[in-house]
Amino acid sequence: MGKQALGFNKALDDIAEALNSDITTSEKLRFLVKAAARALGVKGCSLMLLDVQRKRLFHAASQGLSERYLRKGFLEAEKSLTEALEGRVETIFDVATDPRIQFQELARQERIVSMLSVPVKIKGEVVGILRAYSRTQREFTVVEEQFFISVANLIGVVLELGRFNETEKQLMEAKDEPPSLLTPLSLQVKPASFAHPSEEEFARLLDFYQIEWIYEPRSFVLEWEGKAAEMFTPDFYLPALDIYVEMTTLKPGLTTEKNRKVRRLRELYPEVNIKLLARRDYDRLLAKYGHGPLAGVKTRGVGRVLFSAPKIQKRVSQLAKEVSQDYEGHHPVLVGVLRGVFCFMADLMRYLTVPADVDFMAISYYGGEGGKAVRVTMDVGIELEGCHVLLVEDIVDTGMTLSLVLNHLKARNPASLRVCTLLDKRIRRLADVHLDYVGFEVPDEFLVGYGLDYQEEYRNLPFIALMEEEKTQRRSRDTKKRPG
Ligand code: IMP
Ligand code: MG
Repeated sequence: MGKQALGFNKALDDIAEALNSDITTSEKLRFLVKAAARALGVKGCSLMLLDVQRKRLFHAASQGLSERYLRKGFLEAEKSLTEALEGRVETIFDVATDPRIQFQELARQERIVSMLSVPVKIKGEVVGILRAYSRTQREFTVVEEQFFISVANLIGVVLELGRFNETEKQLMEAKDEPPSLLTPLSLQVKPASFAHPSEEEFARLLDFYQIEWIYEPRSFVLEWEGKAAEMFTPDFYLPALDIYVEMTTLKPGLTTEKNRKVRRLRELYPEVNIKLLARRDYDRLLAKYGHGPLAGVKTRGVGRVLFSAPKIQKRVSQLAKEVSQDYEGHHPVLVGVLRGVFCFMADLMRYLTVPADVDFMAISYYGGEGGKAVRVTMDVGIELEGCHVLLVEDIVDTGMTLSLVLNHLKARNPASLRVCTLLDKRIRRLADVHLDYVGFEVPDEFLVGYGLDYQEEYRNLPFIALMEEEKTQRRSRDTKKRPG
């Protein structure tokens, strides 16, 4: 018998002994996962289980993976791992290039290169997957796969027994949030549960723009008194952008407290990049698409006017003058992202003194019918290769739309590519994009008018104003906010 086969036999002996001993279900699962990782000689191994709706997977027991990796966003069952969830063995040779991988950047940081996944079943029904992570490129042999399938089968047995043993206990505790399909398990790692619906919605928005995230990734010590006396845990970390995001509440008291904490964090950890995202404003942005907690809230209509029609016209003509000077002797192509930009584009064009082409593109928006990930729904018709392209935007907020559009345009090899936006909500920037021409910098408020809409209303206003929402609704929501 080969050395490896002996190793597998030994591992299965040890497992059999552990399963027959007096340890808890979760201890058994951890033992299985650890023994499998050791016998295969891989970096780590994890058992992931489907949640009640069979939509997401979460790590239930793992070995050799960092806490950070385990706390990453949910794995959408539909998107990745379909082979394993359909009951087959799935191998991924190179995580960096395989499109099935949902958290590529995190996997790279975790130094994961190859993966082997097998289904975990209970009486034939797939309830999760068992996955091995290798640091090097590795093709798993049939013998190795077979061993891994055996371990997955044993896990199925343990889960089934655990379910049986703990049903009574669980019934008594009757928790309101059953974490998995296998409710009765007292599992080590629970799927991250969001403290506020806005956070969950934000996570979905990030998924839509294919930006990786980790929820409550780490706690920063802000004050020591012998021990850590004050901690601060930002809501999200976006590894690809290297940004922490803290969603802020409306309550003035809490906001002040939070601002203090963020200031302190910046003092103590100058290398940390943290952004505050006003939850209220964010909710309104979502509501525009008929989503999130504010979707049903009635608006009181238009509030304070920020930029009057003459003021807008003056600034647009100044921008056009700058653009005309910079593109002297060229024939730029102005590209706008529909629909908010149409007023600005029309005025800007008319003030230009250089000849210019104009074209538009559209992308699917969050919550629309376009599905789970953003895509270009209408592309630019003009050939852009070798052209001087000026992308024109109405407003740049988080920058996610813009960075996506710019990548799309870059792929068409323009001679140059610049950005002109009428409004810059800089304070909320997540994706750091360079803006060449900016009309006005605007505060962290929701704006309407001059092409900007709220649920398709107010685009026709000749000025730009703040949007006001129903006061009573706001207040009742705020009392439910958690501190921190
Ligand atoms: P970003 O991807 O977060 O930068 O969002 C940009 C898009 O969100 C814009 O093109 C607008 O369609 C929309 N948006 C952002 N802020 C506002 C606002 O204050 N009023 C209306 N639409 C906005
Ligand atoms: Mg826009």
